[in-house]
Amino acid sequence: MIHPITKFPAAVLDQPTKPIEKFDADLAKLTEDMFESMYAAQGVGLAAPQIGLGLRIAVIDVTVGKNPEAKLVLANPEIIRTEGEQREEEGCLSVPGFRGNVLRPKYVTVRAQDVTGKEYEMRAEGLLARAFCHEIDHLHGILFLTHLSMLKRDLIKRKIRKLTKTGEW
Ligand code: NI
Repeated sequence: MIHPITKFPAAVLDQPTKPIEKFDADLAKLTEDMFESMYAAQGVGLAAPQIGLGLRIAVIDVTVGKNPEAKLVLANPEIIRTEGEQREEEGCLSVPGFRGNVLRPKYVTVRAQDVTGKEYEMRAEGLLARAFCHEIDHLHGILFLTHLSMLKRDLIKRKIRKLTKTGEW
């Protein structure tokens, strides 16, 4: 089932999430729906708050469906190590049409649970490292807008207010 993507400034995007405690069939269905919703929106990552759920789970696929082995479920994830820096343009399905430069670590090691509850660790670089940071931020109620310069952030927020007034947001 494809869920509509929750857009900024919805309150659910601003709030910390509740840990996943039950790794059951309902959770498996939820992650399937999240992948489906993410692919429909042509994203590389989706966090539960982006479909209106305050739960600590995100899905990532930096190949956008091209490689089934690249599908990652991150339940209760935490970043346990970072190295280096990268500055690249970043966007978000909840802030469609806007991008900005965000400084992130170049290498990120994450500890998370998969859809069955099994704990794993993964070290990533480049786009995947960036996706880890972006999605885990979502689970703490943080959008990429927070990492932009105040000038850039205000400009985007002003444009979104304008689009909201004309019913285009
Ligand atoms: Ni996002």
